Amino acid sequence: MDENLQNDPEIIVRVENLTKIFPGVVANDRISMDVRKGEIHCLLGENGAGKSTIAECLYGTYRPESGRIFYQGKEIHLSSPRDAINLGIGMVHQHFEMIPPMTVMENIVVGTESKGMGLKLGAATEKVERICKNYGIVLDLNAVVSQLPVGKQQWVEILKALYVGAKFLILDEPTAVLTPQEIDKFFSILKKMTKDGLSIILITHKLDEVMDISDRVTVFRKGKNIGTVNTSDTDKADLARRMVGREVVFRVTREEIEPGDVVLELKNVHALKKTGVLGLNGVSLSVRRHQILGLAGVSGNGQREIFDVAVGVRQAIKGEILLDGENITNLSPRVIMNKGMASIPQDRIVEGLCMDFSLYENIILGNQHDRPFSSGFFMNSSRILTFAQKKIKEYDIMCSHPSQSACCLSGGNLQKLILAREMAHKPKCLIAGQPTRGLDVGAIEYVHQRLLEMRKAGAGILLISEELDEIFGLSDYIAVIYKGEIMGTFKNGEVTVEEVGLMMAGIRENAA
Ligand SMILES: Nc1ncnc2c1ncn2[C@@H]1O[C@H](COP(=O)(O)OP(=O)(O)OP(=O)(O)O)[C@@H](O)[C@H]1O
Ligand SMILES: [Mg+2]
Repeated sequence: MDENLQNDPEIIVRVENLTKIFPGVVANDRISMDVRKGEIHCLLGENGAGKSTIAECLYGTYRPESGRIFYQGKEIHLSSPRDAINLGIGMVHQHFEMIPPMTVMENIVVGTESKGMGLKLGAATEKVERICKNYGIVLDLNAVVSQLPVGKQQWVEILKALYVGAKFLILDEPTAVLTPQEIDKFFSILKKMTKDGLSIILITHKLDEVMDISDRVTVFRKGKNIGTVNTSDTDKADLARRMVGREVVFRVTREEIEPGDVVLELKNVHALKKTGVLGLNGVSLSVRRHQILGLAGVSGNGQREIFDVAVGVRQAIKGEILLDGENITNLSPRVIMNKGMASIPQDRIVEGLCMDFSLYENIILGNQHDRPFSSGFFMNSSRILTFAQKKIKEYDIMCSHPSQSACCLSGGNLQKLILAREMAHKPKCLIAGQPTRGLDVGAIEYVHQRLLEMRKAGAGILLISEELDEIFGLSDYIAVIYKGEIMGTFKNGEVTVEEVGLMMAGIRENAA
């Protein structure tokens, strides 16, 4: 039976000529596509190509201007996500929102039952437990959602859909918040779900993932469907070409440069996690000018704490941090920034941007009181606008106007906005937390080149990344962090990907 379902050519969702317009942009331009029963169908496309938009149309968040949607052979008209949920359509959003102070079970029931939550909870728990057991999902159903790591929070959305018997799941960049190990597990569960007849649209920028998991791929470019291919008929280079419209190099060339003086130094730094337990246990690191130090590690092992203490938003309870030889330990973020530190926060929506502000305000955020944007009391709006326009062009930020508010940008374009701001000046030191998360291949290539240019210009860069390709492609030195301690620091080339992988899991073999 499983076989049958997998090979069944029957269509679960068909979209015909769907158009969705936002002020100044045709986000989906007469899109036609279909999803087969039991398949994993990847949606691929540059940042701003319209992937999230069509997903939201299929989930009833947005109402398309024109076009038709068929579900299980019948035309449907969705006026809200509730309509979609009732039909068995589930979705994990790119920036998902749950009701954090509630438990997992409460979130599931609140989103799906209209009344009598108290009464329903008991029976519901049993059903959800059964689903978890069936798929091997490990999740504490009584945990308060805000206390779960994001990777786990995502399961809440998926369980919500399965709980109401979803037939069709839309996953918008679900792997962006998962560690490599979690991704493997996640994919094997998705595969099992499709064997049970579930159909999935998966949006991702990671071409390896597309090749690994999907049955078919549809590529979007500037709001249009460029075509659907069988995954077995394509490869990474071909997909990248379809997406970007040109050849993409997957690895930038890093020229050897003589390093300069130490610009950032952490000496025996200790810091607490938000929960009050020790997050950094005597971390020592140093980054020189003209140098990139890659910090590899599974997220949650102290990367956030290192970032925070270095930029001044978390106390170091012991140890010292030096910027260009000057002790900056526990100074304010503003003072540290003025001394030449720039940073790309890993949790950009929360920390890096004001979503209600315009693009040009966001692009100078933090520098609004400085020349050339301000002279004493007054902001120089024409200078700010010119600067913003230049950055929007350079970073290819897809928007209709600089005065548009940030909340209208696509996920990847938001990331580009922060990069444009933080990489604009000539910082002595840049701490880059997951700088290319959520970016399309073309944009990743651009950002990698920019990081290397900054290195050439003399900056010292601490690159925090879970992508080993990125770490190995850019770094002069590689440090591995595990449970708040540095497992070792190595010259790039003197350690293998496998060895780093082992150290990320806490196994120190040749590290001494
Ligand atoms: N709520 C909105 N208001 C105005 N414009 C929007 C809104 N949502 C999206 N857009 C615009 O529609 C276009 C498509 O955006 P969408 O979010 O669908 O892109 P995407 O393919 O998901 O990109 P990414 O890979 O960066 O997430 C973009 O130009 C974006 O700025
Ligand atoms: Mg998107």
